[in-house]
Amino acid sequence: MTDQPSYTGEYIVIKALENGVTIIGLTRGRDTKFHHTEKLDKGEIMVAQFTEHTSAIKLRGKAEVMTRHGSIRNDD
Ligand code: TRP
Repeated sequence: MTDQPSYTGEYIVIKALENGVTIIGLTRGRDTKFHHTEKLDKGEIMVAQFTEHTSAIKLRGKAEVMTRHGSIRNDD
């Protein structure tokens, strides 16, 4: 049997509701650092996955986030 990866294959969807929405990936493990930044313009969608490298995502700007836990919309 092959080893299971440390991520599950689960995805989240982020839809930008304005230009310049920033998605920042934070590292997994003892240190919490930014390791990737992505910019979305209004109407753009990103499908993303938590992996062995990414354990948290920080979002800046108006966006809608859809996960298996539900949807949340940041209007501020
Ligand atoms: N490096 C942290 C970790 O792997 C990143 C992290 C996960 C985090 N969840 C968080 C940082 C919640 C702040 C708040 O656990």
